[in-house]
Amino acid sequence: MTDLFSPYALKGVTLRNRIVMSPMTMYNSVDGRMDDYHTMYLGARAAGGFGLVFPEQVAITPDGRTTTSCAGLWSDEQVEGHARVTAMIRRMGAVPGIQLGHTGRKGSELPPHKGVNEQGSWKALPPDHPDGWTCVAPDAIPYGGDHSYPVHPLTVAEIADLHRSYADAARRALDAGYQWLEMHFAHGYLAASFFSPLANQRTDEYGGSVRNRARFLLEALDAVREVWPEEYPLTMRLGVDDLHPDGIRLEDSIEAIGWMKEHGLDLADVSIGFNTDDMVEPPLGDRGFMLERAARIKREVDIPVATSWNLGVPQNAAAAIASGAIDLAFLGRPALSNPHWPVWAARELGHEDPFGLVPADWAWWLRNFRGHDASIGLPAPSAPAPDLRAAG
Ligand SMILES: Cc1cc2nc3c(=O)[nH]c(=O)nc-3n(C[C@H](O)[C@H](O)[C@H](O)COP(=O)(O)O)c2cc1C
Repeated sequence: MTDLFSPYALKGVTLRNRIVMSPMTMYNSVDGRMDDYHTMYLGARAAGGFGLVFPEQVAITPDGRTTTSCAGLWSDEQVEGHARVTAMIRRMGAVPGIQLGHTGRKGSELPPHKGVNEQGSWKALPPDHPDGWTCVAPDAIPYGGDHSYPVHPLTVAEIADLHRSYADAARRALDAGYQWLEMHFAHGYLAASFFSPLANQRTDEYGGSVRNRARFLLEALDAVREVWPEEYPLTMRLGVDDLHPDGIRLEDSIEAIGWMKEHGLDLADVSIGFNTDDMVEPPLGDRGFMLERAARIKREVDIPVATSWNLGVPQNAAAAIASGAIDLAFLGRPALSNPHWPVWAARELGHEDPFGLVPADWAWWLRNFRGHDASIGLPAPSAPAPDLRAAG
């Protein structure tokens, strides 16, 4: 039975535990740069005990951002801000990971905290807005809803340029000190839209069969594999299911992940396609709803897997790891709301030394300075430690 707090080794990298801060777009960059803001919030999560810490999806080109306030790595000038972030994450004992991506049809937006439409959807900006642009896509099919402005279907030459941009950004990521690279192939962004029949109806070698729809993804992976060292994990977040009868099917994803494994993929982080708002009964409110799909991929492709989605109750994350369904638990919103989620979870789960997860100097004080047990800043464990063996 594998413990959530046991180290995890992949290639030449060992994480101190299996708790990952999932990539989350923060809308706090100027000219795509990371600054003190990013060093602060990512450093805090590393100090809070997360084993692997991702900043947000980092754009490979300016038009690959969600908004003009999002981070990128399309220029050498952006490396320094990232290097400060990775140095802080490492100093706090975690491994810095980067998620590289391009937003495709879902770019040119207003930050959500500055405006959503009446349906609660992210608000797209028209191409002629000072903070907007024409989105690129596999085909001339806009995402729809608020994102109904015309999109530019990529030519084969433009696709090749983008693959070079992936490789250039990966090279910069290495210079910046990242030790884990995840390709963002989910959530309706460019790669996800190439993989989805809902967005991609091309008739050339990038459209049609599963193999053709996976081509953009495989070529991006190859381009990055060329420059990313073998000793560092190269992983991907794939939207394995569009939850729509005409969209990406799990069976297609299983096939594609098999090819990606042959192309040097080290782990699959399993997520949703999000290529349409028109999903059939999306289980977004259910605990751990991607676990079953992730476990199936692990079984059928024989590749390490991770997933996020509603694993924030410590017993759920621990059981998912204990059962062997996933190798790593990604936490998004729980990491936002509680930088010390791993310490809290350790107390909830009866870990013998929860404060061993924070930097050694704080740990010393938290373990040794006499005081009132209930005044340590964390709630007392809510119940006796669970026996997770049943989950196995
Ligand atoms: C504010 C916010 C920003 C996000 N941005 C990204 C992103 O940049 N890349 C990505 O792959 N997922 C992104 N996500 C999704 C999370 O990484 C995670 O997969 C999702 O929130 C489900 O995990 P949770 O239930 O633990 O929150 C974002 C989620 C939130 C809440």
